[in-house]
Amino acid sequence: MLGRILRKEEQLDLKDPKVAEEIFRLELGSTYRKYWDRLARTKQLAYFAVAGLPFGENPTDANLEEHGKQTAGIIARKLGIGKEDEVLEVGVGVGRLAGHIAQSCKGFTGIDISKQMIKFAGKRLSGLKNIRLIAHPKSDLSLFPDQTFDKVYFQIVLIHLDREDAFHYLRESFRVLRPGGKAWFQFYNLLHPDGFKEFKYAVDLSQKLGGKLRGRVQLYTADEARKFVEEAGFKILEDRSYLEKLDQKYEFTPPDTHWFYYLIAVAEKPK
Ligand SMILES: C[S@@+](CC[C@H](N)C(=O)[O-])C[C@H]1O[C@@H](n2cnc3c(N)ncnc32)[C@H](O)[C@@H]1O
Repeated sequence: MLGRILRKEEQLDLKDPKVAEEIFRLELGSTYRKYWDRLARTKQLAYFAVAGLPFGENPTDANLEEHGKQTAGIIARKLGIGKEDEVLEVGVGVGRLAGHIAQSCKGFTGIDISKQMIKFAGKRLSGLKNIRLIAHPKSDLSLFPDQTFDKVYFQIVLIHLDREDAFHYLRESFRVLRPGGKAWFQFYNLLHPDGFKEFKYAVDLSQKLGGKLRGRVQLYTADEARKFVEEAGFKILEDRSYLEKLDQKYEFTPPDTHWFYYLIAVAEKPK
């Protein structure tokens, strides 16, 4: 059905389970770039891939904007993002969060493995002057010298990576942060019943498709997330993190139900 080339503005019916299944079937992907570029081959599918909206809901500029605003506010507050800060988002997608964060910092850099995502992000964020967006083919931050940024964040990105790549990104984040710089790392919680459901979904889909999706979700326990962050050199800021074994104690209303199976480490590069 989707094997043919899609017209740029073509709209698919995401509520049709056959369409959804077909979208994924094509995306086994031999590299992260191929997987995400194919997934994001039209604007609708790129928005769909980042939106975190309930499955099947059609993402629009308006609901993407609204959905991103609350999450961006939480990240900005937890990292203490201010007007003097150089901020890096890794896996910036179509800029769902970037547009909001960029308004409260000095300079914003968004990188992504996918050229398609960066293309759509560029269109959405063309009005902002302090933003640079880069499509980078490798899972590292080799583009940036040591101590370039004050704040770094990953939202719904580490969960799509193999553990080795996730850990390398944490080490790279440590390298590119200035001493005293802060990082936000979001993971999925394997021990939470809804997290485990996500894991089983990935297992069943792999069986059905006869291979693992390149960008499938991968999960951690709170102890594992802690271990990764600390081994990368960071000090975890306990009072800003959400690393309970099962249920996180948010002091705000979570932006959506996925947050119940999040693990969030907010960490500092010691001075
Ligand atoms: C679910 S989207 C999240 C986008 C954005 N952070 C947000 O919250 O709206 C995941 C993004 O990570 C990007 N990505 C996947 N693997 C990556 C990698 N190895 N390095 C950098 N970006 C990656 C994808 O292309 C996609 O844009």
